Amino acid sequence: MKILIIGSNGQLGWELQRTVPQNVDMAALDYPDIDITDEKNLQSVMDEHLPDWIINCAAYTDVDGAEKEADAARAVNCDGAKNIAAQALRINARMVHISTDFIFSGNRSRPYQPLDKPDPKSVYGQTKLDGEKSVESILKQDRLIVRTAWLYSSHGNNFVKTMIRLMDEKEELTIIDDQIGSPTWANGLALTVWAAIHQNLKGIFHWTDAGVASWYDFAVAIQEEAIRAGLLKKTIPILPIPTRKYPTPAKRPLYSVLDKKDILDALGLEAVHWRSRLKQMIQELT
Ligand SMILES: NC(=O)c1ccc[n+]([C@@H]2O[C@H](COP(=O)([O-])OP(=O)(O)OC[C@H]3O[C@@H](n4cnc5c(N)ncnc54)[C@H](OP(=O)(O)O)[C@@H]3O)[C@@H](O)[C@H]2O)c1
Repeated sequence: MKILIIGSNGQLGWELQRTVPQNVDMAALDYPDIDITDEKNLQSVMDEHLPDWIINCAAYTDVDGAEKEADAARAVNCDGAKNIAAQALRINARMVHISTDFIFSGNRSRPYQPLDKPDPKSVYGQTKLDGEKSVESILKQDRLIVRTAWLYSSHGNNFVKTMIRLMDEKEELTIIDDQIGSPTWANGLALTVWAAIHQNLKGIFHWTDAGVASWYDFAVAIQEEAIRAGLLKKTIPILPIPTRKYPTPAKRPLYSVLDKKDILDALGLEAVHWRSRLKQMIQELT
């Protein structure tokens, strides 16, 4: 089976490459070798590789930046996703498209199910939702959309690595405690994507690690694990603050826990608690 990973330098793209199953003939590309906003470029890459599956990990992921650069975010997250879906249809390939918890408003207090009504509060969330809709309008029932949340990996920039750096540099940190989600190691998402391909899954699904946390809980756990792993020498105070005390350009969902039941049932998987996954990832940083 031939698989093309797009966005290979990102967190998920990198994790997919190091978890690739043995029977897979994989090509992995990122900008500028592939530009999903450029239809001609995309067409010639597809003709060269003729994949059976395309995994779209490419995205404009700067949530605050998207508020100012809406056109750039839309070009990648919506038009880019649409271009890939059109190519998948043309060459008769299947496509895995990755999306986000930020398509939801976060006004609920129970986990979001895949068919719950989206209501994004940010430009990033809106462009990702429009990307999903474009993919769906082209691939119809053959679509495979996997939404995830709060991703981190030992490769790339993310909350875990930023926290460890700041905990080393600062005397004290204040972290938001009223946004709730599920921290998710991109490694586990990568394994789930491979399982979904193996089982020829179709539909819209949610995947995160198990359990929930606030950013404050997550930061406290990061400090404990980083000290245990010898990455930090001393603890510093971490103080909880409400979102209103840390204004950002983009509005974020206060509660964006995703219900994973459908994908766990479909693939026969069990989600592992985020704290165990965090420990594994931090070991990789040592
Ligand atoms: N990170 C999270 O917390 C999170 C949460 C929920 C959902 N997601 C979704 O999960 C997926 C993977 O996220 P991630 O964290 O792995 O993203 P990431 O680390 O930001 O990687 C995205 C990759 O896409 C590339 N890219 C951007 N524009 C491109 C273009 N026009 N053509 C080709 N490649 C392009 C980027 O290259 P450059 O670096 O050169 O721009 C980057 O290597 C995305 O769909 C994202 O929306 C992420």
